[in-house]
Amino acid sequence: MKIGVPSEIKDDEYRVALTPAGARELAERGHDVLVQSGAGLGSAIDDADYEGQGARILPDAPAVFDAAEMILKVKEPQPSEVEMLGPGHVLFTYLHLAPAPELTKGLQQSGATCVAYETVEDARGRLPLLAPMSEIAGKIATQAGAFFLEKPLGGRGILLGGVPGVAAATVVVIGGGAVGMNAAFIAIGMEADVFVFDVSIDRLRELDVAFGGRASTVFSSTLAVEEMLPRADLVIGAVLVHGARAPYVVRRDQLKLMKRQAVLVDVAIDQGGCFETSHPTTHRDPTFEVDGITHYCVANMPGAVPITATYALTNATLPYVLALADNGVASAARRDPGLRLGVNVADGRVTHPAVAEGVGVNYTPVEEVLDQKQKA
Ligand SMILES: NC(=O)c1ccc[n+]([C@@H]2O[C@H](COP(=O)([O-])OP(=O)(O)OC[C@H]3O[C@@H](n4cnc5c(N)ncnc54)[C@H](O)[C@@H]3O)[C@@H](O)[C@H]2O)c1
Repeated sequence: MKIGVPSEIKDDEYRVALTPAGARELAERGHDVLVQSGAGLGSAIDDADYEGQGARILPDAPAVFDAAEMILKVKEPQPSEVEMLGPGHVLFTYLHLAPAPELTKGLQQSGATCVAYETVEDARGRLPLLAPMSEIAGKIATQAGAFFLEKPLGGRGILLGGVPGVAAATVVVIGGGAVGMNAAFIAIGMEADVFVFDVSIDRLRELDVAFGGRASTVFSSTLAVEEMLPRADLVIGAVLVHGARAPYVVRRDQLKLMKRQAVLVDVAIDQGGCFETSHPTTHRDPTFEVDGITHYCVANMPGAVPITATYALTNATLPYVLALADNGVASAARRDPGLRLGVNVADGRVTHPAVAEGVGVNYTPVEEVLDQKQKA
């Protein structure tokens, strides 16, 4: 198969979807790897590093999209990239379509088969291609929160860990999955007073064991959140309902319960945000204020640490890239039900139930579309 790797063009995005190690694995299996010149530079990977492992370098994005059958990306395609997609393409990338009806429509019109990293599941129903980025985003969430609590940056002016004789700050993490657990571990490491909320009792049990008494776990309800908001200096939103738009866990009228210049970090912003007052921001301009509360809502947090993030992402995606390249999307999806869940759009139809519900269109089971496509 011809596999194309264009440069990422979203603002402040420096990751790349394939490393030289991945290029080598694909090339050794007889696939053609086509990398846009400069695609790896943001992650400190030169064109020559790819060429040395059997990839070919193409001058620009149109050349890559023209030549490739499968396009590997990191972030959702931008409008100019959607225009270059056609029915012959498989697109494998983060898509986050549930809160994005326009992009979904564009992908439907392209006719491409679009496989979303974030809805691929493993045998235990976990999200193996979201997890590495969630681990990074969780760690950054606490770092960023600590930073924006500093007075010169508009924060309350409190140190997360306190000092002898002065109490630590209170960090509340809502959603104790991959993001939440990593955010909590960094907050614990910084010696803050940490509370993790989740709606899954099983998950709270796992967290309780992992924290070993160094953080409290709380069953998440509207009342429990409202009781905690007046104490919180930093609230990290990290909830996820697979494939769906994030539910609101803090509403605008609840902001008045919080201390002035407290900080909200909405990691779930890529799924539409879990605070009612959130809107996406960028690394260049990461925060805004609503009712005296600082909001940090960067939609591609791992983009800030591309060297870590590129390798963490590609370690996880490579087995799936190899499966798609070796078998084609229909056969790979049939062999691996978890990969099948990644197919969000195919042949103009929306093939993931939560995405279909999120954007308000009809859902078509993925088997119907891929089988038809294969027969055609
Ligand atoms: N902004 C970024 O750069 C970035 C990077 C990585 C991940 N994310 C996003 O972070 C979010 C969390 O990802 P994850 O990998 O931790 O997901 P996850 O599935 O591992 O964890 C989500 C947790 O939220 C819990 N939950 C669901 N509804 C809840 C509610 N109403 N109240 C409390 N808890 C609730 C679930 O039980 C689960 O434990 C996702 O939206 C993901 O897309 C954002």
